[in-house]
Amino acid sequence: MSNKQITAVRGTTDWFDQAMILFNAISHKIIALSDLYTFQRIKTPVFEHAELFSRNLEHSDIVKKELYQLIDRSERKLALRPEGTASIIRAVNEHKLLDQNPWPLKLYYLEPMFRYERPQKGRMREFYQYGIELVGELDQLDYLQTILFAKKILDTFNFDCVLNINWLGNFASRKCWVEQLNQYFKQYQDQLSELSVSRLDSYGVLRILDDKNESKKDFVRSAPTIDQFISLEEQTQFKQLLEQLDQLGIKYKYNSSLVRGLDYYSELVFEFILANNDQAQSTLIGGGCYQNLIAELTNKPLKAIGFALSIERFISYLDDKTKDSLINQDQKPRYLLINLVPNKELATLNLSQELINHNYQVYYQHKLNKVDKAIKYALRAKFTHLIIMGNDEWSMQTMTIKDLASQTQQTIKYKEFIK
Ligand code: HAM
Repeated sequence: MSNKQITAVRGTTDWFDQAMILFNAISHKIIALSDLYTFQRIKTPVFEHAELFSRNLEHSDIVKKELYQLIDRSERKLALRPEGTASIIRAVNEHKLLDQNPWPLKLYYLEPMFRYERPQKGRMREFYQYGIELVGELDQLDYLQTILFAKKILDTFNFDCVLNINWLGNFASRKCWVEQLNQYFKQYQDQLSELSVSRLDSYGVLRILDDKNESKKDFVRSAPTIDQFISLEEQTQFKQLLEQLDQLGIKYKYNSSLVRGLDYYSELVFEFILANNDQAQSTLIGGGCYQNLIAELTNKPLKAIGFALSIERFISYLDDKTKDSLINQDQKPRYLLINLVPNKELATLNLSQELINHNYQVYYQHKLNKVDKAIKYALRAKFTHLIIMGNDEWSMQTMTIKDLASQTQQTIKYKEFIK
């Protein structure tokens, strides 16, 4: 039998210590913001029928190359979800949420997602994604509100990002564009990478435009752009949206090669990319409109927009000052309680319960009954205070409380303390 230690699967994270504190602090802040912006939380299962993704994201890397698939004991083909949007819209349709709620439906989620990617900074195989989805008869103001919300989240964590924005056209114009691109790139087939060639003859051809290496080639740069295919009405709509961003004082970069990696996008797409950083993982928030997915899954001619981010990527790019303030914010005192008097163990247990009932964070460590050992223990276990119960304290109904940072201590009546 092998004695080899079993470790965590590559690309997954065990959360503990400071990283766990950061994770909690970030998610609490984002959830509080979601409440402020009146989104409602939704949770869907970690796995779905694989078909949900393979049908709706057929040409995306997250299905072609990165999907975690499994066959269960009843031979069902399942997949760990690689993203939230398809599952959320599946649930919206299944539970008729659009019929039961006023529009737009405003939902958010914070869930683990799974992609078989090459693990690196800000890119994991299991990661926690937060996202929002808005569904209904949306217009430009809904798009603007969505962008404003994304920006608010980034500002909260002091991220300096550039908003990259593009318009992919509606279903019909995007289809013409894709056809033209396929024809165009076929002329240059011998100059394309193997990956790009595999993307020809599908919607995936769009990815050639934003591929890091391919986009350096002149013929890729001169490929047909969407504005040659979209209607005048759409052009005006996009132009207006950009003007409104100007009026709101939101800086953006029009990026005609921004196509995003998922099949379902049309019309507006956007990414907030860290300023002064050109790593592929420096996109902190990505999103856009996805009317096609809505039509596929709900059969309704509605509009939808959303975006997503990951806690992992946020953590990798937080600056030190913000990290420290997130770790130290709302840090409440943590009390280690010890008793020095024999036969007072149950009384101390009761005391700890009473303090907890008054919302103090307390741990009675019954194996410690020497102050110096207790101090060492408390410091290692990150307690901020030590509560010492000796003979005097029991008889006077007081507690001696030692502040471990300042090394000062005071004896205080129990009744005073809990007031
Ligand atoms: P996405 O661009 O695939 O879009 O992912 C959104 C964000 O999730 C990325 O910008 C990045 O911050 C984070 N992310 C993606 N992959 C990883 C990974 N392997 N490790 C860590 N973080 C990662 C979507 O998923 C769409 N569902 C977003 C959306 C919602 N569009 C409309 N509604």
